[in-house]
Amino acid sequence: MSATVILSPRMSGIKPSPASVLRRRARELRAAGRDIIELSSGNLDFPTPEHVIAAAHQAALRGETRYTDVDGTPELKQAVQAALRRDHRLDYRLDEIVVTSGSTQALFNALLATLAPGDEVIIPAPYWAPYLDQVRLAGGTPVVVPCAQNNGFKLRAEDLQATISPRTRWVVVNNPVNPSGALYSREDLSEIAAVLLRHPDIWVLADGLYEHIAFSGAPAPTLAAVEPRLKPRTLTVSGPAKSYAMMGWRIGYAAGPSALIREMITIQSQTTSGASSISQAAAVAALDGAQDVLAERAVILRARRDRFAELVNGCAGLSCTPPEGTFYLLVGCAGVIGRRAPDGKVIETDRDFSAYLLEEADVVVFPGEDLGLSPYIRVSFANPPAAIEEAGRRLKRACEALQ
Ligand SMILES: Cc1ncc(COP(=O)(O)O)c(C=O)c1O
Repeated sequence: MSATVILSPRMSGIKPSPASVLRRRARELRAAGRDIIELSSGNLDFPTPEHVIAAAHQAALRGETRYTDVDGTPELKQAVQAALRRDHRLDYRLDEIVVTSGSTQALFNALLATLAPGDEVIIPAPYWAPYLDQVRLAGGTPVVVPCAQNNGFKLRAEDLQATISPRTRWVVVNNPVNPSGALYSREDLSEIAAVLLRHPDIWVLADGLYEHIAFSGAPAPTLAAVEPRLKPRTLTVSGPAKSYAMMGWRIGYAAGPSALIREMITIQSQTTSGASSISQAAAVAALDGAQDVLAERAVILRARRDRFAELVNGCAGLSCTPPEGTFYLLVGCAGVIGRRAPDGKVIETDRDFSAYLLEEADVVVFPGEDLGLSPYIRVSFANPPAAIEEAGRRLKRACEALQ
């Protein structure tokens, strides 16, 4: 006999995403023996660098297996401090830095610490979907501002200005952007900063998780560095997950005013007690060690990007522009909407198209509906070349089979 779970009102409006439904179905198909190509995930196929794994191993052997300081080990906080100085010329004191279990937790703790019911958080679309549910869980209201394709999916200063209300508390500025791969230049950020300087009560969540996957050859600029007058109300968030292929180690960090960092640490002390000791030792090695891996991997990803974009643009009804950062192609699929699959079903949405691709072509893609932009899908090129070639063939066949 099962009991009914009585949910908190906090859960209203929080639902499993279409992408998670597709991934569950993909697991079933894989368990049934189907060879499914995963293009929807945020994982890179690269291994974590060997010296990083060795550092974790050594830390475990040294007995670094206890709780650490809630806000992170002094070694990792110093490594974060040095990385922010090296990559962005940003100076933060150690009491302005907190280490978290993934950057996801840094973002959530900041929102939880600051939002009251009715407070608004501006989120440019297309977006990384968890921003919305994090805001809702923290009691706030996400306010989505669409970013036009003809502006490279970047937030325009005038659109930001028009979206600001007396209830706006935060603006999310993700650079480069998951899912569009758009890369804001220093000039782009200066235009956004000019608007924010006129609104002294609005804070900035600067999410730089993909900062080193920028094909310009330099780390993606971040707002507090571009406009120092905004630094006292900016939370600079990042982590080693994407840069060093450390997704599963669950380390992130945030740097910002100590008054906010202190509250985030209080939340952390009462919830997770801090990040994994072994993962923190690994992250020190990633941030302090040789950085050549960043440029080497960016070159590999760039070649994969170009090849996958070529394959996708060869599919009837699909189109994409190679992005300037991240490892995602945002693919317009307006050309397949309204067409009929061999089983007679009409593809009406990008969710339908994603389901069709999974059932008929054995590829999992991310529906744009989940990213605040339709009709689009997001596909990852952080996959081995053979998988990219095969995915390209399957996508082409699936598009050709539509009538
Ligand atoms: C834009 C963006 N921010 C934050 C995160 C959170 O990453 P993590 O918690 O692994 O550091 C992700 C993960 O994919 C992301 O795409």
